[in-house]
Amino acid sequence: MKILSIESSCDETAAAVVENGRKIISSVVATQVEEHKLYGGVVPEIASRRHCESINGVVKEALAQAETDLSGIDALAVTYAPGLIGALLVGVNFAKGLSLASGLPLIPVHHLRGHIASNYLEHTELEPPFLCLVVSGGHSHIVEVTDYTCMRVIGKTRDDAAGEAFDKAARTMGMPYPGGIHLDKAAQSGDPEAFRLPRPKLSGNMYDFSFSGLKTAVINLIHNAQQRGEQLPVNDISAAFRKAVVDSLLTNFIAAAEQLGYDKLVLAGGVSANSLLRERTLEECNKRGWKCFYPPLSLCGDNAAMIGSQAYYEYLAGNLADMKLNAAATMDIATLGKK
Ligand code: KG4
Ligand code: ZN
Repeated sequence: MKILSIESSCDETAAAVVENGRKIISSVVATQVEEHKLYGGVVPEIASRRHCESINGVVKEALAQAETDLSGIDALAVTYAPGLIGALLVGVNFAKGLSLASGLPLIPVHHLRGHIASNYLEHTELEPPFLCLVVSGGHSHIVEVTDYTCMRVIGKTRDDAAGEAFDKAARTMGMPYPGGIHLDKAAQSGDPEAFRLPRPKLSGNMYDFSFSGLKTAVINLIHNAQQRGEQLPVNDISAAFRKAVVDSLLTNFIAAAEQLGYDKLVLAGGVSANSLLRERTLEECNKRGWKCFYPPLSLCGDNAAMIGSQAYYEYLAGNLADMKLNAAATMDIATLGKK
């Protein structure tokens, strides 16, 4: 079964053709990042406008690269939540129009379920159940994936997402948006022990995260150094910050796996590109004889192939949309595909 999928939840306009949830036939991503860089973050209004301009060409290109037209496609899929509402609406309305015109079934896909599915495209042997750490610009969740379309969030951030914290720390050090990747690179040649940064202590759900205290601590450290006119030890600060974030994420992720009896751990989302997070998760899994999976770097960020992968399983579960499909800025990952 070939699915033509569309993703427009943030600042990438993307389309892909994916076969049976596991094989990428084509994948096209048009990024707007250079324009948002000027403002130090995504400007929602600009994002919506660029999606409108790009979506037709991106979808055509995905079909062309797959050497097909709509007659070779069995279903359409689109990200409908969560994300920037104006951005999501561009993809949802385009997909609805295409579905109405072609008669092809339309599959609504939750963006974070798509991030998890990016692993199915690389690791063809990977099947639920597993425990997944979904870390992106907007979310930090520990998710029990009991089946392809059956999920439960058992821990999440109480404030900033991990990616957001990376981006804010990087921005304060003068790195361009999105800063996570630049901070990760700077950290490679830094000393993580050069600075002591706090680790959050939370009451209540033991699997929840908090990154705002850490973010404030690192911003204060940078501002104090700047006020004293000191040369900023960017590499050391980056290394200490990266270690603090990864420690927080992994402490809860591993504890949850031990407590709930999972021996298959999966990373997903933009922050799963972080080199220390990948290395340390693999190390912790190897120590315990657990299996560890993460997406290839090319599929960590937003793309439509991951949406096409998850869509296949939503289709098998009967989660189809009609012309009443709407976009939503927020939505629990446990909500079924219908809206
Ligand atoms: O999943 P994603 O592409 O978009 C959202 O759905 O939010 O995630 C983007 C986030 C950004 O915050 C970006 O800085 C972060 O992922 N990111 C990284 C790295 N590469 C991307 N954070 C830390 N280290 C990286 N290597
Ligand atoms: Zn994303």
